[in-house]
Amino acid sequence: MSLSDTCPVIRRIGVLTGGGDCPGLNAVIRAVSKDALQCGMSVVGVEDGYLGLIENRFCEITDDKLAGILQQGGTILGSNNKSNPSRFVVGYNPAPPKGDGKPIYADVTAKCMTHLRQHGVEALVVIGGDGTLTSAATFSKLGMPCVGVPKTIDNDIVGSEITFGFQTAVATATEAMDRCRTTADSHHRCMVVEVMGRNAGWIALHAGVAAGADVILIPEIPFDMTKLYTRILSRSKAHKRSSLICVSEGAKPAGGSQIVAKVDPTSPDPIRLGGIGKWLADTIEESTGVESRYVVLGHVQRGGTPVAADRVLSTMLGNHAMKLLREGKVGRMVAVQRGTLTDIDLSEPAGKQRLVTPAEPLIDAARAVGACFGD
Ligand code: F6P
Repeated sequence: MSLSDTCPVIRRIGVLTGGGDCPGLNAVIRAVSKDALQCGMSVVGVEDGYLGLIENRFCEITDDKLAGILQQGGTILGSNNKSNPSRFVVGYNPAPPKGDGKPIYADVTAKCMTHLRQHGVEALVVIGGDGTLTSAATFSKLGMPCVGVPKTIDNDIVGSEITFGFQTAVATATEAMDRCRTTADSHHRCMVVEVMGRNAGWIALHAGVAAGADVILIPEIPFDMTKLYTRILSRSKAHKRSSLICVSEGAKPAGGSQIVAKVDPTSPDPIRLGGIGKWLADTIEESTGVESRYVVLGHVQRGGTPVAADRVLSTMLGNHAMKLLREGKVGRMVAVQRGTLTDIDLSEPAGKQRLVTPAEPLIDAARAVGACFGD
């Protein structure tokens, strides 16, 4: 059977990347677009996620635009994590004392549908996290056939056991911790490395194990500071050269709360976590006398070239998205379950997070090699 036999009635697709970026986005764009172009479809990209859809900013994706992007970090289309078309900020109330200065929201989904139609888009591939995919479910219900590809370094999308970008973030965090270990060894210090992940501890757990961290702190397991002091002091007593702590930005002490770095009221997900690394290093030094330093890896984990495993995963997910479109299976999100590609309803991950559970085998394995979770 030739490609054209299997190819569809769809003549033109749109591609959009939304939410925080992550390594592997370009590899998905490439997989989807090359497949579509080979089938005789034309492809148009939406610039800067839903913001470009609202502002009617589109760009044609031709084969030459796809050259060399497989290994490129970020997204050639641009992204945005503040533009929810169902609740878009269209202005602000007057500042006090005249008003409360708060944003004014409007539903601009109809405008987005008009723009999609103007550009002849007959189906849309949406690459994003739970917020982006939730909006895609809305467009699907409004009559625009959508297929979603889950993306996030946090690996916390419900319905898929892995998202692309995660393995690159883990590799970056692991390499950073390896470097922190050598300098910590030289100075007999405790080194705290804060990694991303929002409320999910996947990056901290995987990178912590990969780097042989002595302490791994994740949001799902609140920690007890006295347990940390005991671990660090016992290492010093045993003449271990250093202690390495991998802490997730969302980790918190038992009975305490997460440290919020910033609240952005214009963002659909306004809380930005951060600061636990500094707090831990300061508190540990003060309470144990062990000299401590901290490093916040931040967006370094989101940038740069994707590792080979993410390039492969992105290509597989992009290909599966196109298979679904060709089969007319729309309103679906591609997913990996038990190591196999599958698909679920687009709205399934909405408002949920896939967190680390106590049954996670890697927790047992980490404990077995001596990692302390502070519990
Ligand atoms: O969801 C991905 C993520 O990188 C989180 O790990 C982090 O908390 C957040 O995004 C940072 O968002 P921003 O890029 O808006 O600072």
